[in-house]
Amino acid sequence: MDLKITGGRIITSEGSYKADIGIKKGKITAIAQTLPGDAGMTIDAHGKMIFPGAIDVHVHLQLPFCGTVSADDFENGTKSAACGGVTTVIDFAIQKKGKTLREAVEARRAEADGKVAVDYAVHAVPTDWNERTRNELKKLAADGVTTFKMFMIYAKEGMISDDDALYAALEETATFGGMVGVHAESVRVLDLLINRYHNPNDMKKYGAYCHVLSRPNYIEAEAISRAVTWAEATGGKLYIVHMSTADGAEIISKAKARGLNVYAETCPQYLLLDDSVFKKPNGHLYATCPQIKKKDDSERLWQAIADGDVSTVATDTCTFTTKQKAMWQGDFTKIPFGLPGVETLLPLMYTYGIGKKRITENQLVRALCTNPAKLMGMYPEKGTIAVGSDADLVLFDPQRKVTLSYRNLQTNCDWSPFEGAKLTGYPDTTISRGKLVAKKGKFIGDIGHGKFIKRHIGLNL
Ligand code: URP
Ligand code: ZN
Ligand code: ZN
Repeated sequence: MDLKITGGRIITSEGSYKADIGIKKGKITAIAQTLPGDAGMTIDAHGKMIFPGAIDVHVHLQLPFCGTVSADDFENGTKSAACGGVTTVIDFAIQKKGKTLREAVEARRAEADGKVAVDYAVHAVPTDWNERTRNELKKLAADGVTTFKMFMIYAKEGMISDDDALYAALEETATFGGMVGVHAESVRVLDLLINRYHNPNDMKKYGAYCHVLSRPNYIEAEAISRAVTWAEATGGKLYIVHMSTADGAEIISKAKARGLNVYAETCPQYLLLDDSVFKKPNGHLYATCPQIKKKDDSERLWQAIADGDVSTVATDTCTFTTKQKAMWQGDFTKIPFGLPGVETLLPLMYTYGIGKKRITENQLVRALCTNPAKLMGMYPEKGTIAVGSDADLVLFDPQRKVTLSYRNLQTNCDWSPFEGAKLTGYPDTTISRGKLVAKKGKFIGDIGHGKFIKRHIGLNL
């Protein structure tokens, strides 16, 4: 054995038990109550919980967006992931008009390969839908890019996919088992409402709260309903990214009850914050799409995680510093939209999920590890603790008290949406394929250790 971890309590999506773990060449090779034999290194994990490494299936590292570039690049973003107990991230390869999707994947890989501290993958994002693009999906899936993401908004950014493209992508992916992720907001009415509030009087009166006023819940709900309709019509597998509303949770719950192959993700910002943040003096910092909603939405989303209607919790990490956010100069349409998050995903979900008894420890593993791995085609290599799986592990200290501050985080962000949060429980040691990459929130790994994960077709839950 290269590494032996003794005495910890292993948590899976199904249960928990005390056992030793043996690791060799980056894989888990043995799990037993008491593991005999020596190892290159032994870690005493008594008193620690052992989670599978968390998988954040929604990050935007060094994303050119809103006239700037998100401030955590592949290097620092994946260091930040390691510090928070995240051992795999999935970013996005966005097609450029006139270019192929494969070129987008290659370009993104050229930016990331050799510069990542933990493993990563990409969703391919079609933005130029035509027969050539359609024909690429199956081939990309055969090469390990098995999920696709489409934006129902962002027309002026050149990233929007209209209903015909979404319908056709669901139809095409249904032929080989791929999955289509969707940013679901109703673009026409959204743009109408944005224009309505985009005037000097309202912007002076409401400031960043115009972001809330222009995005009532039906903007998300209508788009989710429509996407579910196309999934039902085509038999395609649909995954709603960053779902923010109770209304969305209801639609997904009903669609699942009808037996449809639809899934949803939510994010800590929708679970832990409410839209009063936009009324703070620095409320514009919190702007992200979709925007943070109301307390009732948060409570419904927590319930949906417990019920399994929300399958995953990811972060939509898209870091912008206070300087970048200041570009808005009072105009809510010019705020760089996005929040930091990958580093605080697991500790926040532990304190406010398990600590507040909203979800169990097994439900936490299901939403942060096992379901992401299954849906995204990385299971059982990732997302669980089993012999033969990658040794991606988090030794988690349930007693450690941390007052969250951006000052102590690895992210390049100079503020945190969760500043001052009093956490009980924090990752102690993060292990990526058998290698220690973070200790007590500090990065101790190597850039270049992370590798691109070629994924297989995901499982249905
Ligand atoms: O505002 C956000 N979430 N920025 C990243 C792009 C997206 O819509 O996910
Ligand atoms: Zn989005
Ligand atoms: Zn996103």
